Amino acid sequence: MKIAVLAGDGIGQEIVKEAVKVLEVFRSEGQSVELEFAPVGGKAYDEEGDPLPPGTLALARDAQAILLGAVGGIKYDSLPRPKRPEQGLLRLRKELNLFANLRPALLYPELAAASTLKSEIVSGLDIMIVRELTGDIYFGQPRGIRINAAGEREGFNTMIYSESEIRRVAHVAFDIAMKRNRRLCSVDKMNVLETTELWREIMIEVSREYPGVVLSHMYVDNAAMQLVRNPKQFDVIVTGNIFGDILSDEASMLTGSIGMLPSASLDAQGKGLYEPIHGSAPDIAGQNIANPLATILSLAMMMRYTFGDDMLALRIENAVRGVLAKGLRTSDIFEAGATRVSTSQMGDAVIAAL
Ligand code: IPM
Ligand code: MG
Repeated sequence: MKIAVLAGDGIGQEIVKEAVKVLEVFRSEGQSVELEFAPVGGKAYDEEGDPLPPGTLALARDAQAILLGAVGGIKYDSLPRPKRPEQGLLRLRKELNLFANLRPALLYPELAAASTLKSEIVSGLDIMIVRELTGDIYFGQPRGIRINAAGEREGFNTMIYSESEIRRVAHVAFDIAMKRNRRLCSVDKMNVLETTELWREIMIEVSREYPGVVLSHMYVDNAAMQLVRNPKQFDVIVTGNIFGDILSDEASMLTGSIGMLPSASLDAQGKGLYEPIHGSAPDIAGQNIANPLATILSLAMMMRYTFGDDMLALRIENAVRGVLAKGLRTSDIFEAGATRVSTSQMGDAVIAAL
């Protein structure tokens, strides 16, 4: 397993350290695990003046999988856009063609009370969001801020999807639905946006190859509402880059904490970048209180999707369930009666449970 480890900024450093401990356990058991470390995001900007230095990109290209912590920090917000930490991540996704972003929202029974929603609404929740990750308004040209005919500044971006971009992510979503409960909901805004009218057309076209999957469609505003009204109606959701960005943060809160949710970003060959869906959380960075479980669970996804090793994936997931069942909680998921633990204590507990 050749893995590039890009811890990034803020709590990224702390949580990745805990995930690396898991990989070291596997190595001590005889797995061949090769780790290469490199900076990304603000850290890379500080060290090399570029949020995705050539060396980091080369390492990521060369690896089979990438483990990423988080990027971003307030002090970088005034930099020119290409130098900002987020660009490191966006370029990495784009350069490596990691178009299929899988974001599961799974509620661990032990955490039902941590959700802000009533437990009967969320208990048993198990949704997979498939977010397209290398297209849409995130990357569309033209874009910028310009002076218009009236002499006023205006900002503009381009929402754009080609047929082939929609088709390939559709296939990923249908394939995943086949392995789950065979219900796929495609989220668009076709009542207003042509880009997503094409999106819906292609989804319907691809659905003919998957007669076993029930495809439905929902407008994004309604989907945002349904996610808090009755989230269990969903099995797999497929949507574009920006809608997926928003809906996946929303879905994460159903599960109690954004600190619990992993993600995988895959290319067509199964190479993947694995990262927690949360950000660098500068407000709690360096305090050893962040939740490392999303990052550790991202490793489980790595074992499953890149290395095809369900056994190792399940071991990690069961270890996480084990520590939750024991009542161990970082601050973000703390509740009365539980045992509050630090980032590193949580990591150690997972190792012990492994
Ligand atoms: C995410 C993040 C990123 C995104 C940011 C950090 C660029 O919010 O992975 O969801 O918008 O895709
Ligand atoms: Mg986001």
